[in-house]
Amino acid sequence: MTGGAGFIGSHLTEALLADGHHVSVIDDLSTGRVENLAAAGPSARLTTHWTSILEDDRLQDLIDEVDVVYHLAAAVGVRLILEKPVETIETNIVGTDRVLRCAAKGQKKVLIASTSEVYGKNENTPLKEDDDGVLGPTSKSRWSYACAKAIDEFLGLAYVKSRGLPVAIVRYFNTIGPRQTGRYGMVVPRFVQQALAGRPITVYGDGNQTRSFTDVVDAVGATLAVSRHPAAIGEVFNVGSGHEITINRLAAIVKEMTASRSEIVHVPYAQAYESGFEDPQKRVPDVTKLRTVIGYSAGIELHASLQRVIDFYRT
Ligand SMILES: NC(=O)c1ccc[n+]([C@@H]2O[C@H](COP(=O)([O-])OP(=O)(O)OC[C@H]3O[C@@H](n4cnc5c(N)ncnc54)[C@H](O)[C@@H]3O)[C@@H](O)[C@H]2O)c1
Repeated sequence: MTGGAGFIGSHLTEALLADGHHVSVIDDLSTGRVENLAAAGPSARLTTHWTSILEDDRLQDLIDEVDVVYHLAAAVGVRLILEKPVETIETNIVGTDRVLRCAAKGQKKVLIASTSEVYGKNENTPLKEDDDGVLGPTSKSRWSYACAKAIDEFLGLAYVKSRGLPVAIVRYFNTIGPRQTGRYGMVVPRFVQQALAGRPITVYGDGNQTRSFTDVVDAVGATLAVSRHPAAIGEVFNVGSGHEITINRLAAIVKEMTASRSEIVHVPYAQAYESGFEDPQKRVPDVTKLRTVIGYSAGIELHASLQRVIDFYRT
């Protein structure tokens, strides 16, 4: 599990341990935290390696020891991408290249975590796996994340075609749950922390942009199901929920659920991020392929998921 101390990776690690598997985590703790794995351990079936997939000479040995590689390590979050553009591109392209090269030596199965960002500015509703990626100009570094993840997908699929490596790809849409941090721009933990602290809940832009949110339990369930299904090899799957909500509505729900006195304020994108910042107005997945090929559907409703995040930040 690369990125196993991160938000999604720690939940995936826990689920695999609960199923009786051995999990070997490699994470450089750049955005992940050791504490994220507290609920998973201590366990004799969990080993941790606090180092980078870019630098660690042991990556080959670690991959040689396992049956499946879940590749989640990445620089994630709009703020991080804008603040560290070089590291983002290096981690997200070179990291995946290294993981695939190592996996190819022993023909190990690889599950690559990709993102709905690869659709870029395409606002088809809902977005299907074969829809076009519409990226903005290279002068706007936000799109480097989408571009790097698209290269990861191309590379993964190329390994399937030309080397016969069993690779499957999941494209996560906005995933939420306990342990996600708001530090790098993620909207739900940011709203919840602001509401609980009585600080203004800051909506970027006019708030009429829509997103769909998936609980991390569903994202993990879908990831495991994809990684175990023979028909998933060489395929890409949207992982998300079809439920669309405006960010204004999300802010109102968080305020209500936390009984907060915070006011909801709007902050221009130029102030929140950088001048000329581009954000898609809509991003909703078509999850038919996940349901029909893999047999998985997300089941956790938004309010229940938000409650889990609120409880996490309260304690
Ligand atoms: N959370 C979401 O809504 C979402 C949406 C789309 C895609 N994703 C993808 O899912 C994966 C996990 O994201 P997350 O939300 O859990 O983010 P996260 O930041 O919590 O997890 C990423 C993990 O990778 C680790 N990492 C970064 N660079 C590394 C390196 N060079 N070597 C080793 N470890 C490194 C970080 O320390 C962190 O623990 C990522 O690949 C991300 O692109 C997440």
